[in-house]
Amino acid sequence: MMIFEDQKGLPLSPETGVLVLAAGKGTRMHSPLPKVLQKLLDKPMLWYLLNTLNRTCSSRPMVVTGHGRSQVEDACSSFMADFIYQERQLGTGHALQVAWDHINKRGFKWLMVLNGDTPLISPQHIKALWEGVRDKDADVGFMSLELDDPGNYGRVIRSEDGRVKEVIEARDFDADMHGQDVSEVNSGLCAFRTSSLRKILFELDSDNKQNELYLTQLVSLAQKSGMNVEAVNAGRCSGLLGVNTPGELILQEEYIRSCIVSKFVEQGVIIRSPDMVRIGPEVYIEPGSEITGPVEIYGKSSISSLSRIFSHCYIEDSFIDGGQVFCFSHIVESVIDSHTRVGPYARLRPGTKMQKGSRAGNFVEIKNSSVGAGSKINHLSYIGDTVMGEEVNVGAGTITCNYDGRAKHKTVIQDRVFIGSNTALVAPVVLQQKSMIAAGSTITRDVPGESLGIGRSRQKNLEGRSPLKNFDKND
Ligand code: UD1
Ligand code: CA
Repeated sequence: MMIFEDQKGLPLSPETGVLVLAAGKGTRMHSPLPKVLQKLLDKPMLWYLLNTLNRTCSSRPMVVTGHGRSQVEDACSSFMADFIYQERQLGTGHALQVAWDHINKRGFKWLMVLNGDTPLISPQHIKALWEGVRDKDADVGFMSLELDDPGNYGRVIRSEDGRVKEVIEARDFDADMHGQDVSEVNSGLCAFRTSSLRKILFELDSDNKQNELYLTQLVSLAQKSGMNVEAVNAGRCSGLLGVNTPGELILQEEYIRSCIVSKFVEQGVIIRSPDMVRIGPEVYIEPGSEITGPVEIYGKSSISSLSRIFSHCYIEDSFIDGGQVFCFSHIVESVIDSHTRVGPYARLRPGTKMQKGSRAGNFVEIKNSSVGAGSKINHLSYIGDTVMGEEVNVGAGTITCNYDGRAKHKTVIQDRVFIGSNTALVAPVVLQQKSMIAAGSTITRDVPGESLGIGRSRQKNLEGRSPLKNFDKND
């Protein structure tokens, strides 16, 4: 099963708008890539959030973009989302102001806001905040969490009666002014009654160390206007942590990685060296399969029962239907049927289909080809743009010459053909059934069924002409 299948959301009602803030540059990542496109288990950060939102909300999420706008929008193209452009990134509060017209036009009664750099927020978090806000009839609500080291997070300051007073950003926190440092911090997930938000949103000022409009200032503005502010404390919750630095990216990736692996183990997948197994969030694995780390399996790969994946393999967007993949194999957009053996050291490129009981051995590269049932390519070969029938034997060092410098051409190898070692098949070419190719041939013309194709110069033996003849063993 897929890992997120059992995470049920609310869903949030259509009168609740959802806004994702994703315009920032992510300076602390030190990368030209917009931060929200940094990957965890080969999926962009924003993918996780939009995936959660598409399963939680009835309304189309709104995404504020800015830095790397078109790249971010392209990366979200598989999701339903509306984009709002924040030309200059003047702070999270400014991002909300820029989105306000759009929110207003859509007439939402409630608004939920999420930071694009908090990828592992789950439907349960959204549900908990939503219920907290609704039950307490709050105007402003946010989810807080507990950290031993509050680091760069906004501190939640409460008054003596326990009510939330304000959120102070890390850089503005001053022990003399705000008292002892606290462990309760702002997760960035927040919700507003839009009629209340309207009254305070444009009151934000940039009177702070970063000269930005902080969304978090809305907490104190609401408090001062006598509105009801509610913080839902999620405790020590790794899923709510943000990603601002490479270290935090690795930390969050490790968290989701271990969640995914543990889930599959619980479901009956045998995963050896589990700490070294990386499985993407869309991968489907059936119980009864076995995987030995280190291994990476990404994209929409699917591994069915009885499959075995040995260590050091990389598998992406591929279907392993009960076959065995031996160490150090690299498999992308390929299908491997039952009783098939691939590797060690095999490379299957996009469009490869290995049919039942076929075999691709060490240092074999296959691309855009189907290999028929029971056919064997055991050593050192390149097979490209080929349709291969059943029970074919491909000798070591066989190469399909599929490219003439301008176009790719097809090779057809029919059932039960035997290809001798070190053969070059110059496409387009057809080897009809039960034909045999002599080792070392360069085949440029079709070979009829049951014929022997020889394409090499005849061997000559020149008697007595070996240069070695005058040398003794000890010379
Ligand atoms: C923010 C919160 C902080 C909280 C933390 C949780 C503010 C002022 N601070 O801090 O209280 O503890 O998240 O992770 O909100 N963005 C825009 N436009 C901008 C600026 C930022 O869209 O003009 C986006 C960023 O792309 C990012 C998100 O808003 O996805 C949060 O911004 P970031 O600068 O990372 O805020 P933090 O300093 O982490
Ligand atoms: Ca952040």
